[in-house]
Amino acid sequence: MLPIRPEIEHLRDSPIIEVWRLGFVVPDVVGLWAGECDVPTPRFIVDAAHRALLEGKTFYTHKRGIPELRAALQRYHRRLWQVEVPDERIAVTSAGMNAVMLICQTVIRAGDNAVFITPTWPNVERAAEVQGAEVREVPMRAGPDGWSLELQQLFDRCDERTRLIYYASPGNPTGWTIPPAQQQTLLEFARRRGIFVLADEVYHRFVYDRPVVPSILQHAAPDDPVFVVNSFSKSWAMTGWRMGWMVYPAALATPLERLIEYNTSGGQPFLQEAGIAALDDGEGFVTEIVERSRRGRELVIERLSRMPGVRVVPCTAAFYVMFEVEGVADTLDFCKRLVTEARVGLAPGVAFGQGAESMIRLCYAKTEDTLNRALDRMESYLNARARSAGPMTAR
Ligand SMILES: Cc1ncc(COP(=O)(O)O)c(C=O)c1O
Repeated sequence: MLPIRPEIEHLRDSPIIEVWRLGFVVPDVVGLWAGECDVPTPRFIVDAAHRALLEGKTFYTHKRGIPELRAALQRYHRRLWQVEVPDERIAVTSAGMNAVMLICQTVIRAGDNAVFITPTWPNVERAAEVQGAEVREVPMRAGPDGWSLELQQLFDRCDERTRLIYYASPGNPTGWTIPPAQQQTLLEFARRRGIFVLADEVYHRFVYDRPVVPSILQHAAPDDPVFVVNSFSKSWAMTGWRMGWMVYPAALATPLERLIEYNTSGGQPFLQEAGIAALDDGEGFVTEIVERSRRGRELVIERLSRMPGVRVVPCTAAFYVMFEVEGVADTLDFCKRLVTEARVGLAPGVAFGQGAESMIRLCYAKTEDTLNRALDRMESYLNARARSAGPMTAR
């Protein structure tokens, strides 16, 4: 091996990729493993990028994003959450993932630890590891009312080397949203201990029991140790565009602007013009895809709950459902079998850290046809499995 940093040498692949590699060569596979909706970006957003390209908006631009997009983001925060975010606290990033890496680069020193509420999207853990952090997990419990967090457990995992606490609300893969009282207590703890909170709000529009998920920005003061990561990927079906933004403590504007210079040197101005169209004119589209996702969720939960040996964990946000199959302990093995034998691609729980090992994640942000095709195949597979296991496991 060439002498690269051990943190990079030992970076691991997600178990989802292992399933995907197998499934990639299976003809007519239905892949519900990835976290994206199957609707292409709407025309009015594409047109805005097209226009900007034709207008020659192809040059280097502001490190924190074009001022017009930052102004649109300010309007968006005002409209959605009634919060004023000063321009100096906003940076446009190469989607949520780049914002996560910038934050880890900013706060983590080798030997620090970062604490994660799990099950979690694994990429943030890996980003912390790239910076040399020890990853600590605090698993939530999946009960009959959904996922719940014991906040004291989280506090007990923090020590003098803790630099960052990460949560996503709504969460991937859980659909958990942080209760306002817990958010408040967490914020007070972070202030008192000088630990940064990374609040991931990329699924903020995908919620089915209220209009929008509250933002931590509604409670945090400008100099609190709080970062918020957000993205165009999910709400406006723009995963391939790699556009997102972050909000950070007021004092960090200059160091972050410099750090962006040495990462991406800023984003693409023609894409950022499209970002303005998404924010200012995208409400109709957001309503449509959230409604579509709501129907997908109902369909999937209703059908999965009737399958033999399946227990679904209730969820009210994001676009995933987590479930267990009776007798399945090794979910990676199960997902590999399911993709090769039933041509349905799902994500094994082991990919999401502690608390999800026995679970499987399904992304339901797909057409009804696609979902039904996958569910028909799963149903036949699970029925056959239940029959071969005998009457004890069939119900
Ligand atoms: C919880 C969570 N945060 C952030 C992201 C980052 O998305 P993107 O980099 O496309 O903005 C994802 C993507 O799946 C996610 O699930």
